[in-house]
Amino acid sequence: MAEKRGKKWYKDLALYQFWRRNSSLYRIRLNRLQRQYAAHADPRRFDWDWQATHFNRIALVNLLVSKFADPAYLEIGCEFDVMFNAVPAASKVGVDPYSGGTERTTSDAFFARNTSRFDVVFIDGLHTYDQVRRDIVNAIPVLNKGGWIALHDMMPRDWIEQHVPVVSGGAWTGDVWKVAFELASTEGIDFRIAKIDYGVGVFRLTRDNVVLNDMFDELRDRQFDYFADNLGKLPVVEWDQARAWIKSAN
Ligand SMILES: C[S@@+](CC[C@H](N)C(=O)[O-])C[C@H]1O[C@@H](n2cnc3c(N)ncnc32)[C@H](O)[C@@H]1O
Repeated sequence: MAEKRGKKWYKDLALYQFWRRNSSLYRIRLNRLQRQYAAHADPRRFDWDWQATHFNRIALVNLLVSKFADPAYLEIGCEFDVMFNAVPAASKVGVDPYSGGTERTTSDAFFARNTSRFDVVFIDGLHTYDQVRRDIVNAIPVLNKGGWIALHDMMPRDWIEQHVPVVSGGAWTGDVWKVAFELASTEGIDFRIAKIDYGVGVFRLTRDNVVLNDMFDELRDRQFDYFADNLGKLPVVEWDQARAWIKSAN
């Protein structure tokens, strides 16, 4: 019975979100917001077609999980459990304050009381730079030796898709991309961004006591123009390269 109620609630939420995105009132509000933040606008748009690759975040996380005989999996941000239910690990913890997963709480509150360790962590909760940064900093110490952390939404296609606060009526990556510059410049982290599904970041630790490079003061107020100008500094790889790298890593 409880499960039935839960499923209906998810359906209602999905319908509500669909209605909200398509209602004219919502569109008027978005247009107003886009005008308000016009100073952040940038005419550039990357034409990455995420449907064309035929690989997504689920394929990548399952590749990571397949490296372990008996993996312990943690997901931050589960929503409708699309990813969470597709991960074939016996031991799974899913954290979300609103829907899906197994722990009805925020990632901050979860990490504050967590005593478990994990082989694969997928970070896909609140898509703001400071929150994702905190999720990474909290996840690193609970990673088993040889473990992996993956992150969703590192490759926004335009200024609207990445803007915080949200001004997008469609996909929203948030400014998760900012942490990619920190990961790429941190000693002891082997990091790539697979060019699939809005950019899936993946990393593992190559030594103990890794401290994430702190570029907060430089990155906090940056907008899409910084991402577009500096994309070449990020280790973006095609799916085939990401797959080969993950499969060959010990
Ligand atoms: C993009 S959805 C996750 C999608 C899911 N990982 C998947 O791949 O199917 C983001 C989720 O993060 C959750 N979220 C928001 N703030 C959070 C927080 N502070 N801690 C954990 N999850 C959070 C939202 O409730 C939402 O369900």
